[in-house]
Order: sequence, then C-alpha cells, then structure tokens
Amino acid sequence: MREKMVAGNWKMHGSLVDNKQLLDEVAAGVDGLKEARLAVCVPYPYLSSVQDALRSTNIAWGAQNVSQYEKGAYTGEVSTSMLKDFECRYVIVGHSERRTLFGENNTIVAEKYLAAQRAGITPILCVGETLEQREAGTTERVIEDQLTAVIRLAGIDSLSQAVVAYEPIWAIGTGKTASPQQAQDVHSFIRTGIANENASIARELAILYGGSVKANNAPELFAMPDIDGGLIGGASLIASEFIAICRALH
Ligand code: G3P
Repeated sequence: MREKMVAGNWKMHGSLVDNKQLLDEVAAGVDGLKEARLAVCVPYPYLSSVQDALRSTNIAWGAQNVSQYEKGAYTGEVSTSMLKDFECRYVIVGHSERRTLFGENNTIVAEKYLAAQRAGITPILCVGETLEQREAGTTERVIEDQLTAVIRLAGIDSLSQAVVAYEPIWAIGTGKTASPQQAQDVHSFIRTGIANENASIARELAILYGGSVKANNAPELFAMPDIDGGLIGGASLIASEFIAICRALH
C-alpha cells in the first residue's frame, strides 16, 4: 500500500516566536494521524528549534534545499551532513523557485538529489511546467526531461528512496489550483513513465501535488488515484489549514 504524505514548504517565512505557536497547534491538530507521513520543510536557521519542537511528535522535518557538494569553499552553502546534524529526514530539491530564480538546471537538481540520498536524506524532487509550456503542449516533455536527468545520474532504483512532487508553476502561490483531473493526468504520466522502467518502484512511489492546495480543495485532489498527498506552501503557515489538509489524507 503506497504511503500518503503531506509536507509543508514554509519557503522564506517564519520567526522563532511564530514557528513555536504554529508547530504546537499543528502537532496537537494532527496527533494520532498515523497512516500518513507528515513533514515540514523549514528555512535553515530554524532547523534546531523545529527539531526540538517536533522531536516527540508524528511530524518529521527537513530543509528546502541542500548543496550538491559535501564540504569546502562554497560560501553560503549548506551540506547534507549539516542537515543530518539536525536529523533532517527530508529535503526538497529542484523546487521551481530554485530552478527559475537561482539557476538550478536539471543537472544541478540531479546532483542535489544524489547528494541527499547518499547522506540518507529522502529527497522530495519537484517537477513541473510553466503556463507557457503547458499552453504549448510540452508539459510531458518538460517533466520527462526533469525526471530523466535524475534517473540517468542516480538510477531508477533510487526512486524507491524518494518522493516526487508535481508542482505546475502556474498554480504555485497563485490560488489557481490545477483541477484534480489535470493533476491526475500528469501524476499518471509520471507513474507510467517510471513503470516502464520498474513497475514495483512506480507502484510504491509517493507522488505529491503542489500548487495552491487548501483545506477546501485537498479532499478532491487527494481522492485521485495517483495523487498521494501534497506539498503545501502558503497553507502550511496557517495551522487550521495545514491540519485540515493533513486530515484530508485519511
Ligand atoms: O512547494 C510547495 C509550493 O510551491 C506550493 O505553494 O503556496 O501554492 O501552496 P502554494
């Protein structure tokens, strides 16, 4: 049975005071939910306090990026071993904001993915298309290229220790969510493509949807056969919304 998952992506938001209140409310609200993986991916400076706040809960934690380099003269970078120091279980790699704003191409994303896995951290690999690419009918080609770069470097078997998140860029932060069928079509494309190389890995792979997931649309999205949960941005910063989205998995 494929595991369901909801992960929050706080992006560049938070404060020590706000984080504590948010996490205390969320932890209380999802206490007892055991059938799904729950996580929050937070800005690096908060990893220690989030580790303390979540250590005895059913919520894992992680980061939103990581260097592909192990250590050295890479000013400003953060390594996988540093994330391990804070017991990070997950790390988001290839988020569209990293790709578009910070020049992370498919090769760099694949290297980050591999570095995370080598350190025993589960990468949440983000793929997705722009509105222009969707309107040009190239969505599947774009996503195939993003996945192929990772599979070529890390191997198809690596996906057994990964999570994939489909995030149509045109739905991120816009309030313009992909319809459940639009999302399902792409999730099915992803799963079918992987099944062509390894059916059992495809069957077990958690494919999350991200892009304006809210409490009011999560149940319909999560009911689709190839949508195994969500990667949540804005709504993960609102306790009541995030709790409702997590509960929509059950
Ligand atoms: O990584 C999740 C994020 O890109 C989605 O953001 O605010 O549309 O839920 P949002």
